[in-house]
Amino acid sequence: MSDASFLSSQAPSQAPSQAHASPLPPRLNARVSVIIPAAGSGTRFGAALPKQYLDLCGLPILIRTLHVFEQTPCVDAIVIAASEDFHEHIQTLCTTHRITKLAAICPGGTERQYSIFNALNTAPILDSDVVLVHDAVRPFCTPAFITSLAEAAMERGSAIPGLVPKETIKEISSDLSVRSTPPRQHLRAIQTPQAFRRELLHSSYAFAEKQGFIGTDDASVVEFAGNTVFVINGLEENIKITTPFDFAVARMLLERS
Ligand code: C5P
Repeated sequence: MSDASFLSSQAPSQAPSQAHASPLPPRLNARVSVIIPAAGSGTRFGAALPKQYLDLCGLPILIRTLHVFEQTPCVDAIVIAASEDFHEHIQTLCTTHRITKLAAICPGGTERQYSIFNALNTAPILDSDVVLVHDAVRPFCTPAFITSLAEAAMERGSAIPGLVPKETIKEISSDLSVRSTPPRQHLRAIQTPQAFRRELLHSSYAFAEKQGFIGTDDASVVEFAGNTVFVINGLEENIKITTPFDFAVARMLLERS
């Protein structure tokens, strides 16, 4: 694990402009940290570099994501989980772009869940009251959104953002026949950041590890451990850059702002 003492005086970059600038929210009366899982190989994207390191309108996607947390007053520390081949690169990027809240970089795992479990065991996270987990490839969340998730998690133990799906969602069988059509008002498309009280997230991850359970998001790990997870309204522009189409949309969002 690296510490952040390397952060010093290289030329700073311009902070990316916020699409909808609003007054910065105040600090919470709790220690809030964020884990950024960034150990994906980006194979679905088809580029030479993992997508989190690709340039998006002049800045790497990862740096755009980190800037939002850097600008959120209630966030105290950032821990990044990444392949060890990229640790030095991340340190250099964070120095260059003045990410002063970077507290540790830990090794990634073969699954997103293992990357996060590694991060949960770093000192800055063990020292936190509330932990948010946010995909490296979602650069469009905002300080106000992050703060409302952290506040809600402090109050209720958990808060995850969800949007009512625009399309009708079908459950299908392996032969592609429709098995069921769940009512849309009972469905949510879930985003990150997902926010939890630290002990709840840590104990749920430890339980899942013991049971060999792999979930598709952090909330599913907390649910698997028998806990209730609460949803708040998601943010439409908080897209996950997964495909070249998402990349084109991200570029348009930045050009519009
Ligand atoms: O693969 P997917 O797009 O779902 O990845 C979501 C986030 O999890 C990305 O930020 C990716 O870098 C990260 N990830 C990780 N460790 C893995 C796989 C994905 O940190 N083994």
